[in-house]
Amino acid sequence: MNLKELVYKTRTCRRFEESHHIDLKILEGLIDLARMSASAANRQPLKYLLYNTPDFCERIFPSIAWAGYLKEWPGPLAGERPSAYIVIMGDKSITETYSVDHGIAAQSIMLGATEAGFGGCMIASIKRDLLRDELKIPERFEILLILALGKPVEKIIVDDIKDNDIKYWRDEKQTHHVPKRRLDELILKL
Ligand SMILES: Cc1cc2nc3c(=O)[nH]c(=O)nc-3n(C[C@H](O)[C@H](O)[C@H](O)COP(=O)(O)O)c2cc1C
Repeated sequence: MNLKELVYKTRTCRRFEESHHIDLKILEGLIDLARMSASAANRQPLKYLLYNTPDFCERIFPSIAWAGYLKEWPGPLAGERPSAYIVIMGDKSITETYSVDHGIAAQSIMLGATEAGFGGCMIASIKRDLLRDELKIPERFEILLILALGKPVEKIIVDDIKDNDIKYWRDEKQTHHVPKRRLDELILKL
């Protein structure tokens, strides 16, 4: 895959083959990509928790709100849930402002996951208190993002936006459609 193919293929995926185990070494390799990513003032304040066992995945799942636009969908059913999670946190002992570091790190991780044959979802809609309790995360760490990962079973199609409707949706075959704005709408000529 060249870079364009990799970026195009790195779509948000929310349904997985749950029984497919993701090795810890793979997750560590993804964090190495985050480690090499840009960081405001080179503070590098991000810390990561890695989970790849059914027990922990089950404990993390209730803290996540899935796909806000799919009102009828409660999130992935048993058997189609993520088989690994990465929790991205800010280390408050380094700084209390993380700029866009976690977004950049998250994209590096997602690109690496795609390259390794996995897919996933960045999640900011988190029941943070619940997750902190469940994983015993000390107050020193601010919970910034969860990355849910797994072997994708979802078919995803990118559409041009129609009528300015940005909401992703699913068709009768459960194919996931993501509307993207056209390039000429993004590049301004003032
Ligand atoms: C910062 C951020 C937070 C997100 N939070 C959630 C979330 O809480 N739950 C969810 O299901 N998807 C979440 N998403 C995924 C977006 O819905 C997804 O990126 C969007 O629909 C576009 O799809 P694409 O990633 O395939 O381009 C988040 C994405 C980003 C970048």
